[in-house]
Parts: sequence; structure tokens; C-alpha cells
Amino acid sequence: MTETAKPAVRPARPFFSSGPCAKRPGWTPEALKGALVGRSHRSKPGKAKLKDAIVRTKKLLGIPDDYRVGIVPASDTGAVEMAMWSMLGARPVDLFAWESFSEDWVTDAVKQLKLKDTRTLKAPYGELPDLKQYDPTHDAVFVWNGTTSGVKVPNGDWIPGNREGITICDATSAAFAMDLPWDKLDVVTFSWQKVLGGEAAHGMLVLSPRAVARLESYTPPWPLPKIFRMTKGGKIVEGIFEGETINTPSMVAVEDYLDALTWAENAGGLKALIARADANTKVLADWAAKSGWAGFLAKDASIRSNTSVCINVTDPWFEALGDDAKAEVLKKLCASLDKEGVAYDVAGYRAAPPGLRIWCGATVEKADLEALTPWLDWAWRQVKQPVSA
Ligand SMILES: Cc1ncc(COP(=O)(O)O)c(C=O)c1O
Repeated sequence: MTETAKPAVRPARPFFSSGPCAKRPGWTPEALKGALVGRSHRSKPGKAKLKDAIVRTKKLLGIPDDYRVGIVPASDTGAVEMAMWSMLGARPVDLFAWESFSEDWVTDAVKQLKLKDTRTLKAPYGELPDLKQYDPTHDAVFVWNGTTSGVKVPNGDWIPGNREGITICDATSAAFAMDLPWDKLDVVTFSWQKVLGGEAAHGMLVLSPRAVARLESYTPPWPLPKIFRMTKGGKIVEGIFEGETINTPSMVAVEDYLDALTWAENAGGLKALIARADANTKVLADWAAKSGWAGFLAKDASIRSNTSVCINVTDPWFEALGDDAKAEVLKKLCASLDKEGVAYDVAGYRAAPPGLRIWCGATVEKADLEALTPWLDWAWRQVKQPVSA
């Protein structure tokens, strides 16, 4: 590698991973000192903490009063799969996929649940399938933000208010960063480790009254493990949505999530979180426009994520390389950023076109992205020079 002058400033917090994401500014393990460790989560104070997490999540996100919010096992994946396993099969299902996680949900529906009546509407990395194809007599499964392609759903206009089907939306990298049209979404899931920078482990499951009606009126033909079961005797188990979790949660993770909620509330609530993510993304957009070598994987600005920002390389020298050589260049670029301690975990997803993925959610500071961009240019010069010279 040829050395060129290094930028003078390093990001104070080089944490740009798309999950687990950066902790909130100022976080130290001290934030966990009030954790109810060594106690039962079913004790009065244990249940109060879990209920607090539910109530404050609802308030912060503006979730309608008649929606239920539960803390469930196995992070976002657990929340999505318990909804799919519990609710699908009652109607035909439209499955929308444009990156790896949305593809995972297609696999679940088609290969695992073996649903017969499905339509898969797919788009390549960087694009969105034609959402208007949604048939409102069908159920729908989709991600709000495709974390591995940096492509988000721009709005809920394609979901009719008077739909007959239910909509299952994996919003794990969208919640707390994007406005979600709750009236169009019957199931919404997310985890603690994404936009608020909490600890992984638990998932949040949000159910509309229509989703609850589905649970109470439909019994799937396949067996449901205990950790997926949300009804008893044909009735929703209300306790799950009051903090009586199905199985044992980590009270350390709960404490950390409560700390993240406190930070988010003090930062100004949802609007402020969205504004932070937007401002962070703008730093990268402004830089990419001037960089001469980088652009957005999502060409259409209206579908670009403000959390998992996916950058592709537009330099003609790079574009002329074969796939393996491209991957090698990106690997070197990320390794030099890592070695300098200026950006961790920014390689694009392995199945995505070679590029970078830089998290811009609210817990990332704008100043750190501003400090990062000269390093991106520096790292690019390191990897390009030896080959092109
Ligand atoms: C869109 C999407 N869905 C699901 C997941 C899986 O989340 P978890 O590991 O929290 O279950 C991720 C993780 O990055 C994601 O981005």
C-alpha cells in the first residue's frame, strides 16, 4: 500500500456497525447499575421494569393506544417468526423481498411453512419491488428498511386502509429513525440492538387490533413452540403485552433498553431521532457527491435509508474489475479503516454488491461521520494507488 497523508482528526467513536449499533452518546456500563439482577422478572419490580419498557416504547413511537406491544424472545427474528408462524396460512400472502433479510422471510414462508398460496415480488439490491402489486385481500410480509441494501419503503400509500389481509412489517432498522404509518401496519417488529443501540436478545412485537383478531380467529395447521404461542383457549394472552414475558428475559438488557429510552426521550423524542439520522445521512450524501469514487447503492433518493447507508464504488477503474478483485479491494479498504481505528464493521453485507455500509442511526454523532469521510477518501487512495499507478 502506498501511504498518503492521514487526515488530522479521527472519529471519537468509530462505531458504524449496522447491528449491534453504536451505544447512545455518553454510554458507560454505569448505565446498567440499576439492573434488577438476581431477581425474578415476575417480581413486582421486575414486572414494573418490563411494563415501563413497553409503555415508554409506545409513547416514544406514537403507537396507537389500541395496539399491543410485547417483549418477546429471540430479538427481531423471534418477533417476525412468531407472527409468521401464528398468523400466516389464513389467506394468500404477498412476500416482498429486495435484500437478504426480506429474502429470509420468503424462505420461511415458502420453504419452512410451505405456504402454497404465495406471490414473491422481488427486486435486486438497490431497488424496491413494485409495492403497488400488493393485493389487499392478501396478507403481506415485508421489511420497512432493507438493512443490507440501504433501501427503505418510502411510505404506506400502497397499503389500503380497508385491506382484508394483515400486513407484517419487519421494521428493525427503521423504528426510531423513520415515520411508520401505524394504521397501515398490523404487525411491526424490531429489536433493541438497532437504532437505540441497546443490547441484543429481545424483540418487540407490535400488534394492531386486526392482528389480534387474526390470532383469535385462526389456528395454524402446524405445531407452535411455546415461545411462539400468544393465545390460550382462543384468546390473546394479555399478560405478554403487560410485561409478563413468555420466558425469562435478561434484566441487564432490559435496563440498557430503559437507559436508551431515557436518552431518546431527553434527545427530543422520535422527531429528534429521525432528524439525527437524516442529518447523519446527509453528511455521507454530501461527501459521496464530491468524492469522485463513491455513490449510493440506492439510486432513487426517495427510497434511500437514513440508517443502513449503503455506499457503492463508482470509480471506473473499480467498475472494470472482476467480482473477486472488487471484493479484495473493499476488504483492504475496510481493513485499513479498522486498523486505523476510524471505522469498525463498515463492509457491505456479503451478499450485497461490493461496497460499504455505514450506520447513520440516531446514536451515531454527526461529528463522527464528518471526521470519517476524509478517512474514507484516504483509505480509497491506499487501495487504488498500487494497482492504477
Ligand atoms: C431487516 C432485518 N431483519 C432482521 C434482522 C435480524 O435481527 P436480529 O438479529 O435482531 O434478530 C436484521 C438484523 O440486522 C435486520 O436488519
